[in-house]
Amino acid sequence: MAKIVVTGKIPEIALEKLKKSHEVISWGEETPISRDEMLERVPGANVIVSLLTEKIDEEVLTSAGNDLKAVCNVAVGYNNIDVAACKSKNVLVTNTPGVLTDATADIAMALILMTTRRLSEGERVIRNQEPWAWGMFYMLGSSIQNQTLGILGMGQIGIATALRAKSFGMKIIYTRRNRLDEKIEKELSAQYVSLDELLQQSDIVSLHCPYSTETHHLISDAQLSKMKKTSYLINTARGPIVNEEALANALINKTIAGAGLDVYENEPKVNEKLLKLDNVVLLPHLGSATVETRTAMATTAANNALEILSGNKPLNPVY
Ligand code: DGY
Repeated sequence: MAKIVVTGKIPEIALEKLKKSHEVISWGEETPISRDEMLERVPGANVIVSLLTEKIDEEVLTSAGNDLKAVCNVAVGYNNIDVAACKSKNVLVTNTPGVLTDATADIAMALILMTTRRLSEGERVIRNQEPWAWGMFYMLGSSIQNQTLGILGMGQIGIATALRAKSFGMKIIYTRRNRLDEKIEKELSAQYVSLDELLQQSDIVSLHCPYSTETHHLISDAQLSKMKKTSYLINTARGPIVNEEALANALINKTIAGAGLDVYENEPKVNEKLLKLDNVVLLPHLGSATVETRTAMATTAANNALEILSGNKPLNPVY
């Protein structure tokens, strides 16, 4: 019987899977486990099933000890895990690709509509019981049909967002490390461009790249100033890809027209300046937040843990 430490509350169905044949120590609260609490639980663990709110670094790996075989993240992004440290200790790392693609693309599309059509602003008027009346020029947004969506990071979620946007009548341009093959480009009617071209030509820029040292503050003053004054920035990927202070200033100075954010540089904190602005939509990291998706994510992580503990190859290794 192996020892599995689950660092956060996960759907029961996934927990039960693990409990069938292993000792499982899990955190039952919805609020994240404290660092100290986690460090107390991990010694002797064979697998850590982690949530993105927990930093799995050298200290955690050392506390866990030599029997640790794997860290199975319940997320597709794994920037909370020091993969190099895991690698050096022969600890496998897995993630949950695929199962949250549609849910996250839905939120990207929702943010595109919320920002361009000023939906949060409109809802605030009603909730605050402010006076309003239908008016020819009242709270006009901008149409997205025939507008250009620039996708930065055309992986699974980027592609799913492009497909949605295409059906809304948008033109798609994209940039990523390697160009997609021609067949997929054709399906999406997507054009491959450089980052600068993407920033200059897009009416909406949507971020879908993973977070790493290479993508830290990939969008900062210089990049924002290349965007059209009428354009919008959407981020459903990871907060620190955007320099939040630079974005807040660009929104205040009207360097760009608006932004839609599901993720933040220092989650759960949000830059104070952003909170005061009407031209930004702010969501609390809801990309994968559906019952079906979270269940699939937790089950995927559990399946990875079980495969590894049975001596098999993990289903979703990140290295
Ligand atoms: C992920 O899986 O990386 C998502 O951000 C979770 O919501």
